[in-house]
Amino acid sequence: MKEIVFSRHRRLRSSANMRALVRENHLHTEDLIYPIFIAEGKGIRKEISSMPGIFQLSIDQLKTEMDEVTELGIKSVLLFGIPSEKDECGTQAFHDHGVVQQGIRYIKESYPEVIVIADTCLCEYTSHGHCGVVENGNVLNDPSLELLAKTAVAQAEAGADIIAPSNMMDGFVAAIRAGLDEAGYSDIPVMSYAVKYSSAFYGPFREAAESTPQFGDRKTYQMDPANRLEALREAESDVAEGADFLIVKPGMPYLDIVRDVKNSFNLPVVIYNVSGEYSMVKAAAQNGWVDERNTVLEMLTGMKRAGADLIITYHAKDAARWLQK
Ligand code: PBG
Ligand code: ZN
Repeated sequence: MKEIVFSRHRRLRSSANMRALVRENHLHTEDLIYPIFIAEGKGIRKEISSMPGIFQLSIDQLKTEMDEVTELGIKSVLLFGIPSEKDECGTQAFHDHGVVQQGIRYIKESYPEVIVIADTCLCEYTSHGHCGVVENGNVLNDPSLELLAKTAVAQAEAGADIIAPSNMMDGFVAAIRAGLDEAGYSDIPVMSYAVKYSSAFYGPFREAAESTPQFGDRKTYQMDPANRLEALREAESDVAEGADFLIVKPGMPYLDIVRDVKNSFNLPVVIYNVSGEYSMVKAAAQNGWVDERNTVLEMLTGMKRAGADLIITYHAKDAARWLQK
């Protein structure tokens, strides 16, 4: 054979220890944020049919969940509420005794070291299921801001460590920042769902949170999946308005956007590995079509490689368990 010159990349893959030595990205349990659905009522522990392993839990059921979460070393949770009553303007979102406010109080009392992140939106609380105030079939921007700011303040009053607004109204970070500052919560960071696409991958979440819009869709406020520059405009305005973290959502189909956001701003980037992504992996694993452990760890590591500092994921408990071994 004629002598040819080529590179020997396989030298650095020769053994597990060699591969560990040159590994560029690592997944840590501290990177994971675990979402929890808190239902109003007692004795509720209802599995979401499209999300095996994920439950709606009433506050009296949170102890078992939080014991498990903390024993696994997970340090932060993201709370969603399922109120027993909904109305036009989502009153339970900002009521002092709203279900999430109660959940925050319980967790901060019993697990004070856990970082409690409150999702700030109205869709779980409004009868029409939209993320803002609705008039004549339109979701109104500016009137929604006031309700969001009130919701954030109620969550902060209950003891939330981080406010995470997800509703995609223009100016929501500025409105919430102003509301928090005015109420004396200038130390509470805002983790903005800065880049949130209008996605089919939210399907199982809407079952879990009972937040499907009763008419129309969310395309007038959530982003068009085809757009990339728009993501940077969204993130840019949130940074200017005072966001402390930037979320990109969904995760898997948007890793290019995670990288863009990571390279363009100097803030921690959070990726949301959403419900539909979870359900797909679970379904395939239950059919024996993919290996769950390896698939999940590869997916989450890929998100770190794409530039995510933190990952919101329903796989958090499983991943933490696998990382322990
Ligand atoms: C509501 C909200 C949604 C998710 C988080 N907050 C759904 C939506 O916009 O319809 C999706 C999370 C998931 O799918 O896991 N503002
Ligand atoms: Zn919403």
